[in-house]
Amino acid sequence: MISPFPYDRLPTSSEFFGRVTELEKLATIAQNSNNLLIHSKRRMGKSSLIKTFFEKNSDTYLCIYVDIFDVVSKEDFAKQLLKALSNAGKFDLKTAIKNLTSLFKRVRVEPTIDQNTFEYSIKPIVATLTFEEMMEDFFNSLHELSKTNKIILAIDEFQQIANITDVKLDAMMRKHIQERENISYVFLGSKRHLLTSLFEYKSPLYELATHYELKPLELEAICEYAKKYLDISLPMCEYIYQISDGETKMIQQILHLLYIQKEKTISKEQIDIVTKEIINSKDSSYKLLFDTLGNNQKTALKIVGKYKSGVFASAILTEHNIKKQTLQSSIDTLLKKELIDKEDERYFIPDRTFELWVEGL
Ligand SMILES: Nc1ncnc2c1ncn2[C@@H]1O[C@H](COP(=O)(O)OP(=O)(O)OP(=O)(O)O)[C@@H](O)[C@H]1O
Ligand SMILES: [Mg+2]
Repeated sequence: MISPFPYDRLPTSSEFFGRVTELEKLATIAQNSNNLLIHSKRRMGKSSLIKTFFEKNSDTYLCIYVDIFDVVSKEDFAKQLLKALSNAGKFDLKTAIKNLTSLFKRVRVEPTIDQNTFEYSIKPIVATLTFEEMMEDFFNSLHELSKTNKIILAIDEFQQIANITDVKLDAMMRKHIQERENISYVFLGSKRHLLTSLFEYKSPLYELATHYELKPLELEAICEYAKKYLDISLPMCEYIYQISDGETKMIQQILHLLYIQKEKTISKEQIDIVTKEIINSKDSSYKLLFDTLGNNQKTALKIVGKYKSGVFASAILTEHNIKKQTLQSSIDTLLKKELIDKEDERYFIPDRTFELWVEGL
């Protein structure tokens, strides 16, 4: 059933709510061709925000969106850039191909059809090209286009470029970013520490973008939207917000389940039931994940889930029969695996559903 609360797909423009300040912020950045780094915990709404901004502004800007989540090589990265550029703008297929053919020096393009959606898109043909040739063609074309268009290039899951180590992609990007006019770069990503290391002092991208942390949606905005479709009070919205710890995806999933139940007035009991349903539905995959951990890591995860801060207190160590050093090194491993994260001396599990599951162990 289609519900107005998307949690596993991006919202359409009529399903998108809140984020007024953020949309204004993006508008200012784009108007001045400045650059922005948007980061947040996972599932807060970064991709939804940029996609919505692009939809609203596609008449004013040439909006190019690249998702590099599954990029594993520098060639992949270049290919994704070229593919995104080829499919940007509101042209019919024929015009787009004609434009691109005169724009690219080496890259050729051809139409392709998506096997799932049956939608047409444009595919760059790059098999014979080197990474350097692809990048040159991309940035030359971008430069050419920027003479007549204001451009926004958004690179989502940007932290992935840190995994590509055979070329200095950040240094390369820096060169192009500095030479540009009429182009805004918007970098988006989670994995806070990775992103910070890409933009930290002395790294090539340092000071090239304003940093912006996307916070949880405002409770009032959520409740105002939810009330259009559900008989729900502000305290009940607040309760959902607390359970989800502000994670947009979980809030939406709870609202979705309440919506399809078609009960009348939303109660605390109902919210508890659907929350359990969400956690249970993930039980087997979380069990599998948990079983990949060693015993000390399992203990560390349980401790983090239960106490969040002050985890090295001797009472806790005794209760769980673990040495301080062992706990420390297990926590470090969990941090590296990104199963846990740390903020202001407080540990947390970034996937809120998983956190609740661990709390219930
Ligand atoms: N402003 C919004 N209005 C309505 N739904 C939203 C909004 N922001 C996020 N969502 C919903 O929350 C879910 C997570 O959002 P999204 O994928 O944009 O987050 P993200 O920060 O990009 O996550 P990730 O770190 O996993 O890439 C989506 O299913 C989306 O539909
Ligand atoms: Mg995203």
